[in-house]
Amino acid sequence: MKITRRKFVALTAMGGITLIVPSSKLTLAQARKETQMAYTAKDYSKLLGMEGFSETLLKNHFTLYQGYVANTNKLADTLAQMLKDGKAGTPEYAELKRRFGWEFNGMRLHEYYFENLGGKGVFDKGGKLAKKIAEDFGSYEEWEKDFKGVGTMRGVGWTVLYQDSMSGKLFNCWIHEHDGGHLAGCTPILILDVWEHAFMIDYGLKRPYYIASFFKNIDWKAAEARLK
Ligand SMILES: [Fe+2]
Repeated sequence: MKITRRKFVALTAMGGITLIVPSSKLTLAQARKETQMAYTAKDYSKLLGMEGFSETLLKNHFTLYQGYVANTNKLADTLAQMLKDGKAGTPEYAELKRRFGWEFNGMRLHEYYFENLGGKGVFDKGGKLAKKIAEDFGSYEEWEKDFKGVGTMRGVGWTVLYQDSMSGKLFNCWIHEHDGGHLAGCTPILILDVWEHAFMIDYGLKRPYYIASFFKNIDWKAAEARLK
């Protein structure tokens, strides 16, 4: 069965799905596959009301995150179409390929960040993560000093507590923007957004105050569940 992309958009919109695609022909099976592959923005409205985070700041942040999801889908579709059209190897294709990692990481890092928030900041000092932190940093206090030190580095990006999947070792890393500085094959355990949009509405230039609020709201169980 062949349907036009325009018809498919109408059909999927009726079912609550929106897919923006050009009006060339594709089979229903292809269209279904594209829909399955598309990422959907998650709902983090349960975070509204967190101490130290205004509703305005959080709502702006959710909107920004939704933009990364939309752009990741858009880039994936555009690149797939360019490949079909024999445009791989062109400068345009190369630049969009470079851009893909930036948008994808912008989406995924926000998901890790929102998902390790909404807790009460209570760290289980006898837990698996506490033991691992003590093993690799000497103590929780030393780890926190290092993590906050990374979080207050000048620049725009993220602070990530990573676990090396091969050695199991933990590292606090600075990620430039969304894509610079990731450790290959490592698992993110705790993510802190230190782009200015994450705090300036509430804290101006006082980033350490924002980081203190972040610590009060960490969902340590969510972080610990990521540990191998
Ligand atoms: Fe952000």
